[in-house]
Amino acid sequence: MIQTVATKPFNDQKPGTSGLRKKVRGFQQPHYAANFVQSVFDSLSGFEGQTLVVGGDGRYFNRDVIQVVLKMAAANGFGRVLVGQGGILSTPAASHLIRSSGAFGGLVLSASHNPGGPDEDFGIKYNVGNGGPAPEKVTDAIHARTLSIDSYRIVDAGDIDIDTLGTRELAGMTVEIVDPVAAYADLMEQLFDFPAIREMIAEGFTLSFDAMSAVTGPYAKEIFERRLGAQSGTVRNGTPLPDFGHHHPDPNLVHAKELYDRMMGDAAPDFGAASDGDGDRNLIIGRNCYVTPSDSLAVLAANAHLAPGYAKGLKGIARSMPTSGAADRVAEKLGIPLYETPTGWKFFGNLLDAGMATICGEESAGTGSDHVREKDGIWAVLLWLNILASRRQSVAEIMQTHWATYGRNYYARHDYEAIAKDRADALMAALRDKLTALPGTANSGGTVQSADDFAYSDPTDQSVSRNQGIRILFEDGSRVVFRLSGTGTEGATLRVYIERYVDRHGKLDMETADALAPLVRAAQEIADITGFTGMEQPSVIT
Ligand code: G6P
Ligand code: ZN
Repeated sequence: MIQTVATKPFNDQKPGTSGLRKKVRGFQQPHYAANFVQSVFDSLSGFEGQTLVVGGDGRYFNRDVIQVVLKMAAANGFGRVLVGQGGILSTPAASHLIRSSGAFGGLVLSASHNPGGPDEDFGIKYNVGNGGPAPEKVTDAIHARTLSIDSYRIVDAGDIDIDTLGTRELAGMTVEIVDPVAAYADLMEQLFDFPAIREMIAEGFTLSFDAMSAVTGPYAKEIFERRLGAQSGTVRNGTPLPDFGHHHPDPNLVHAKELYDRMMGDAAPDFGAASDGDGDRNLIIGRNCYVTPSDSLAVLAANAHLAPGYAKGLKGIARSMPTSGAADRVAEKLGIPLYETPTGWKFFGNLLDAGMATICGEESAGTGSDHVREKDGIWAVLLWLNILASRRQSVAEIMQTHWATYGRNYYARHDYEAIAKDRADALMAALRDKLTALPGTANSGGTVQSADDFAYSDPTDQSVSRNQGIRILFEDGSRVVFRLSGTGTEGATLRVYIERYVDRHGKLDMETADALAPLVRAAQEIADITGFTGMEQPSVIT
């Protein structure tokens, strides 16, 4: 039954920040997905007879690739594959399943917050046995293999039924179709005080969760509506659709505008949240109070001990470099270490495995902990709900108290999307050339204290990652960071991260745009964004 199929390398299969992401049309080229899957298997050793986890966010092409993966896993010698029913597994649920089943690893099929559909995006990411994204040495090996591959192995068999729970057999390999939600919901129930949240809701606390027609719908309905008793309809857009209902499943102020407007209106519920395509990101909005992801990380870290799963306190906090320093102040007060890593959840894995950090977060709307090895949207919502149930204050009150204690890091990210790649590279090269000359010079943002290209040395294995973003630090602690996105599928995206710190005695109630205006001008001047890109304004501000 096993066939060896001759193939030729594709030269565009380098995994990015989060695995291989391409247009569906690219994945539909003959052999394209199979080449990548075989390159993953060829870069691993010791999986003979072992378990592989497979699932995705339900986007267009998910079911097709799952069939390919099943047939290739059987042909390559895996002993068992666990598949979420209907091909569904949120990214954090996949991470949990890999860990709890002792799997060798898993393939997560998703392009996260990118749109889905025949003309949109698809992705494949390999996660290792700790449940987290493969580290760079593995993704580098996969990439190298994609450039030399000449054949792949696949069994010649009909499609497997992935919609009915239970166990079947494929060329000597066991295929188990599992409930994608139950085990994950049980894990959440262990970490958080469900009775306290249920009581708060029973007493009239209202919430709204936008699943954006993506993977979290079934998880959110089970957890918020069934287990916590929120009224039906709390979960909006709760059915996963292959094209996410033509929406862009990115929980930010642009794409979750409907939720945002509702939260700012007269009939706003007490709490609003959303998650992305594959369920690892989160957006948190209180009534009339948007919480930036960087602030959310800081508040969650400062209050995590209120949840049973974190009652013993945190070992450390980790954040990506462009994420604001709000969490740093919390770590300082708690007397625990703060780790600053490059963008990408994979950099947190080693710190979590080593027990050096408990909570991690990124400005890109990701927060999570050592309960899995991915960021986790519903986890963040539940930790917020647990904190609200324990403190019995509004989101706005919690934010005001937080700033009055730690000071406030005003923060925004400006994205310039779909720039020609050579222009974006030229802009970054020109910035790099300026780095040594900048310190001591003054501009609209103030006097530059230091400027560098961020490099990270992993404290657990000493591996070094360079060129992770240009940082310009001002004398008053303000900061502008420039970086090119590693997750886009069209041209380049320039991200400019702008941050200004005001201590607890300063003005804590400014509009973010006003607080940051001088730094935004400074970023323009220093990088000549309009000159290089032709764009006067960012495409998205979050
Ligand atoms: C994915 C990763 C995150 C990362 C984000 C932004 O969601 O899982 O860890 O922060 O992409 O990446 P980008 O390279 O587009 O800024
Ligand atoms: Zn995601």
